[in-house]
Amino acid sequence: MTDTAHLQLRTPTIADGQALWQMAVDSATLDVNSPYAYLLWCRDFAATSVIAEVDGEPAGFVTGYRRPAQPQTLMVWQVAVNAAHRGAGLAGRMLDHLAAAHVPQGVTHLETSITPDNDASRRLFGAFARRWDAQLECSELFGAGLFSESHLAEDLFRIGPLGVNPRRR
Ligand SMILES: CC(C)(COP(=O)(O)OP(=O)(O)OC[C@H]1O[C@@H](n2cnc3c(N)ncnc32)[C@H](O)[C@@H]1OP(=O)(O)O)[C@@H](O)C(=O)NCCC(=O)NCCS
Repeated sequence: MTDTAHLQLRTPTIADGQALWQMAVDSATLDVNSPYAYLLWCRDFAATSVIAEVDGEPAGFVTGYRRPAQPQTLMVWQVAVNAAHRGAGLAGRMLDHLAAAHVPQGVTHLETSITPDNDASRRLFGAFARRWDAQLECSELFGAGLFSESHLAEDLFRIGPLGVNPRRR
């Protein structure tokens, strides 16, 4: 992302479902869900999701939801940034954007799950916890044996309590 590029973070609509699916495919890391799943997400969980556009083109997204049995917890399901825009803080900005929108509405913790081999994602959420002056607890969420196909374990990262605002970058 160049200094002159125009970044917009906004709530996705169903018209963005295809772009989210394509970014998941292009990430080459995420478990890709069906195109239908991203459409449904953009319909029912748009308020806890965000799409980033750089110069009007999709550049990244976060999908999340508030846990039905524990609505103070925002569960981040998938995060992706297009390869051309990685390493510029875009994923961190999307997470800050979501947290800043939901902390005033009662969210106190953010959760996500990460495989042990995903250094970029581990660093992303570690940096998020530091910016928000929050504790980060790591535990096993889904062991490898719970998956029907070959899949690394998913570790649960639970971050909180979240402060009112993130520290300045
Ligand atoms: C993970 C991902 C979303 C990060 O996006 P990003 O916009 O590049 O992230 P940021 O620029 O905000 O950087 C976040 C942290 O990751 C680090 N990082 C970025 N790329 C990295 C890499 N290839 N290897 C290790 N660390 C990396 C950054 O240095 C930063 O850490 P720091 O604050 O301690 O310096 C992006 O790499 C991606 O889309 N990966 C493929 C999909 C994926 O794995 N999603 C997460 C699944 S839970």
